[in-house]
Amino acid sequence: MSEAKMKREKWVCQPAQFVPHDNAADLAVSVARRVAEVAAQAIRERGEFRLALAGGETPRRCYEQLRHLPIDWSRVQIFFGDERCLPVGDAQRNDTMASNALLDHVAIPPTHIHRIAAERGADEAARHYAGLFDQTAALDLVLLGMGEDGHTASLFPGNPATELKDAVVAVLDAPKPPPQRVSLGLDTLRQARQRIFLVSGAGKRAALQAMRDGAALPAARVGSAEWHVDRAAMPEGH
Ligand code: 6PG
Repeated sequence: MSEAKMKREKWVCQPAQFVPHDNAADLAVSVARRVAEVAAQAIRERGEFRLALAGGETPRRCYEQLRHLPIDWSRVQIFFGDERCLPVGDAQRNDTMASNALLDHVAIPPTHIHRIAAERGADEAARHYAGLFDQTAALDLVLLGMGEDGHTASLFPGNPATELKDAVVAVLDAPKPPPQRVSLGLDTLRQARQRIFLVSGAGKRAALQAMRDGAALPAARVGSAEWHVDRAAMPEGH
């Protein structure tokens, strides 16, 4: 993307949106409560709650907390922000983590869980998942993690897939293993009604600091969001 276009895009990772937490456990409890609030409102207003789950390790505790909250799972549709191109059931897949932490423990109809068929390879899986988004309403909430380089979902700095306009993108040569992934595209993340980031650990501080100072990292480009950040990751001065 040109420098001029980057300047035109509105980066949002402003301190005003930081929700501070003492530690990862408190962050997980708070975000789980927020998900339950957003779910109740979506179900009240539209009869269903369309939630995209984040991958990585940070959200695990939040998903475990969600098991115990009063959510009408029969009204929830589950999507995934991204998936790693690994065999079904591989321990490193994001849907494996989500199933172990949450989906296997709540009464959600199996047909409401829309996994990314990343085992079929990035290109075919992205095309297939994009078809799902073409025929359907916007997501109510996207949960997102952030990598130490400021990536989110599988949208990495400098990777061509990050600049694509497709609803779902095939990611090749990802710097975080595995190299092949499937991700919701930047526009799909932006079109969701709400976004919540879960950011924990000292390793994430530098990226948060850089984005607060205006760096156009992918996590800063998804649009307005609630940034739930623990003390270890919080930039100086917050
Ligand atoms: C993935 C995730 C990725 C993750 C960040 C943070 O597939 O790896 O989708 O975007 O959210 O890399 O990962 P941690 O929570 O493990 O630090």
